[in-house]
Amino acid sequence: MARPDLCTPEEIRQLVDQFYGRIQADAVLGPVFDQHIDDWPLHLDIMVRFWSSILLGAGTYSGTPMPKHVALPGLDAAMFHRWLDLFHTTTSELPNRDMANQADELARRIARSLWFGYQMNREPNRMPQELNHE
Ligand code: HEM
Repeated sequence: MARPDLCTPEEIRQLVDQFYGRIQADAVLGPVFDQHIDDWPLHLDIMVRFWSSILLGAGTYSGTPMPKHVALPGLDAAMFHRWLDLFHTTTSELPNRDMANQADELARRIARSLWFGYQMNREPNRMPQELNHE
């Protein structure tokens, strides 16, 4: 899935900066991120490493996103939909359509898996709900 020739490091940096610019300006998600992130430049660097690893296979990310998200109180399906909407708004402006489509597809899959893991950890006795995002 990862393809070293898909895009440049600068394109990934732009995607990350633009997306988290939208996140920070968002009335619902902005405060959630601000509450849990002390060092924004560091978070953006981590996210550049993350996307470089999954899009290009750069091997620069070695974190564990699931426990970090499970630890955040009060997440719900609407927030994951909103996250994906803002992500898609950002990718829709990318001239590199190949990169945009690949990033959208990965974001949808990872969001779904994070939402499942979140529910399984926080409410183990309830059947997890799907994340049906178009
Ligand atoms: C409701 C949706 C989401 C919210 C509110 C959210 C919020 C956050 C917050 C607050 C952090 C920082 C956690 C910390 O440093 O302790 C974080 C980290 C991260 N998020 Fe999300 N996130 C969401 C969805 C996603 C999705 C869909 C992806 C992937 C496509 C993603 C990927 C990551 C990654 C890779 C990290 C870095 C984890 C690390 O430190 O290694 N997040 N997120």
